[in-house]
Amino acid sequence: MNAPMLNRVAVEPRHFLDLWKLDGMTIRAILDEAHRRKAARIGWPTGKVDADAPASGRTLAMIFEKNSTRTRFSFDAAIRQLGGASIISTARDMQLGRGEPIEDTAKVLSRMVDAIMIRADRHDDVERLSQNASIPVINGLTDKSHPCQVLADLMTFEEHRGPLEGKTFAWIGDGNNVCSSFIHAAGKLGFTLNVATPADYHPDLLELSRAGNAGKIELTQDPRAAALGADCVMTDTWVSMGDVDHDERIAAFEPFQVDEALMGLAAKDAVFLHCLPAHRGEEVTDAVIDGPRSLVFDEAENRIHAQKAVLHWCFGGVV
Ligand code: CP
Ligand code: NVA
Repeated sequence: MNAPMLNRVAVEPRHFLDLWKLDGMTIRAILDEAHRRKAARIGWPTGKVDADAPASGRTLAMIFEKNSTRTRFSFDAAIRQLGGASIISTARDMQLGRGEPIEDTAKVLSRMVDAIMIRADRHDDVERLSQNASIPVINGLTDKSHPCQVLADLMTFEEHRGPLEGKTFAWIGDGNNVCSSFIHAAGKLGFTLNVATPADYHPDLLELSRAGNAGKIELTQDPRAAALGADCVMTDTWVSMGDVDHDERIAAFEPFQVDEALMGLAAKDAVFLHCLPAHRGEEVTDAVIDGPRSLVFDEAENRIHAQKAVLHWCFGGVV
């Protein structure tokens, strides 16, 4: 007896790989969804499923090639709040860690789950995963970008300081993966981004060239000029996962510490953001990160709400 033919309908999945690949209206719709879902469950226990349970019956696979606290727990909480389930693994525990091609991994997981979130060493691997998956792939940080983080950051800013339009953000320190996603966001959502880095650690020029032209992006080597009048001051670790030049970095970044004097140059009601984990006494002082302008723990919580909106968008629920 002949086996019945399986009709696999080729529908392009909605991957969430980088903010530069989305239009500004889509990013705006995802942010609005995040705010709406957060507001709808104020006071609820974290484990309670949203009233509409939009991911009911769906499973998210998560693959980690690098360490994570926030991304791991927030995505797990997010898919559960949407009514779905998760399967989490380090790449090391998978055959991926023994050299199985990422293309085959994509095809196998596409038969078993409904979306994949991956934190990868190399951005190109995430692209290849997505090109071979028939389900949505989400970038949970690569060497090049961290788009989920920046959505949570923008959501946090909006909660405390209102619309992004006309606002100025100052990125102080390393022109790294998080910085690149901020550059992409500025170009799509139309805010001003001042980026102050040492000369040797400027943002990736390819990522800069990918930013849309809705916003204004200024590069400088002067942290004081970047912070002057800013509505939000941000920094990140001076040594990202995978960086090998630890001592050179610490020396080069020393003048780029965010301290109270630098915050004093920003707008009177300026806020401070840091994606965490932070290195107190390096990129930021205790007084700033633990001070009244710091929103870092709201920012961490908002990873859940922003990623729920991303997952819902990936599954076709946000238009
Ligand atoms: N900010 C962030 O992505 O944190 P984790 O590395 O803990 O996931
Ligand atoms: N730039 C940091 C972000 C960690 C969340 C890193 O890549 O290690």
